[in-house]
Amino acid sequence: MAELRLKGKCALITGAATGIGLATAQRMALEGADLALVDLDEEGLEKAKADAASKGARVMTFRCDVSEEDEVKATVRGTEGKFGKIDILVNNAGIWRRYLPFSETTSDMWKRYIGVNLLGTMYFTRAVVGGMIARGWGRIINIGSVAGVYGNANMADYSATKGAVIAFTKALAKEVTEKGVLVNCVSPGSVSNVQDQVEPSQLSFAGRTGTHTENANLICFLASDEASYISGQNIQIDGCRKKM
Ligand SMILES: NC(=O)c1ccc[n+]([C@@H]2O[C@H](COP(=O)([O-])OP(=O)(O)OC[C@H]3O[C@@H](n4cnc5c(N)ncnc54)[C@H](O)[C@@H]3O)[C@@H](O)[C@H]2O)c1
Repeated sequence: MAELRLKGKCALITGAATGIGLATAQRMALEGADLALVDLDEEGLEKAKADAASKGARVMTFRCDVSEEDEVKATVRGTEGKFGKIDILVNNAGIWRRYLPFSETTSDMWKRYIGVNLLGTMYFTRAVVGGMIARGWGRIINIGSVAGVYGNANMADYSATKGAVIAFTKALAKEVTEKGVLVNCVSPGSVSNVQDQVEPSQLSFAGRTGTHTENANLICFLASDEASYISGQNIQIDGCRKKM
C-alpha cells in the first residue's frame, strides 16, 4: 500500500459510520489525511473517529442529514473552520436497503431517496467546489451503483437516483477539470455486509461479492495525486457484473 499519499489533505466523507464510508475513512487515515466524518449515526461516528484517530488522523465528526442543505453548509463551515479547507469530498451517504415493485412505492419514498442520494451529493458538492477551484486542486468522488447503469428490478427509484449521480458526475467534470478539480464516480456492484468477508454471488463473473475495503482502495486511489489524469468517469467495481 502506498502510504501517506494524502498527507496534508483534508477529506470529508459522508456516510462514514459504517460500510464503504467507514472503510474509506480507515484507509484515508492510514494515508495521512485529516478527516471530517459525516453521518446520522452518532454512535457509529464516535467509533469511526476513535478508529481513525488510532491510526494517527486528526478527526472531526458531524451528525448531519445530507438531504438538509442548512446542515450541509454548517458541516462544511465547521470543517473549514478547523482544517482550513476541504480537498477531497466523498459523497458516499446513501439509502438503498429496500426492495419493492415500483407500483408499491410511494412518492414520499422517492423523495427521500432523491433527497439523500442525489440532492445530498449536490448540496455537499456545491458547498465545497468553490474552495477547490480557488486552490486549483480538488477531488470529488461520488458513489453511484451498477443499479444506476443497468437498472435493478424492485429498486427503480434507487436506480434513478444513482443514474442521476453518474450523469451529474460527468457533467460537473466538464466544468471543473481544467480548474484542477477532478470529479469521478465509483459504482459498486454487490458488496458484502461484513467488512472483509466475501460471499458467493451469481451476479458477477468473479462469483463473489466485493468488500468495503476493495471499494475504499479505489476511492483512495482516485483521491490521490496518482489519479491525476482521471476525471468525468464512472468506474464500476463489480467483479465483471452480469447485466441482469
Ligand atoms: N453495499 C452495496 O452493495 C452497494 C452497492 C452499490 C452501491 N452502494 C452505495 O454505496 C454507498 C455506501 O453503501 P453502504 O452499503 O456502505 O451503505 P450502508 O447502508 O451500510 O451505510 C450508509 C451510511 O450512510 C448513512 N446515511 C444514510 N442516510 C444518511 C443521511 N441522510 N445523512 C447522512 N448519513 C446518512 C447511514 O447512517 C450509514 O452509516 C451508498 O451510496 C450505496 O448506495 C452500495
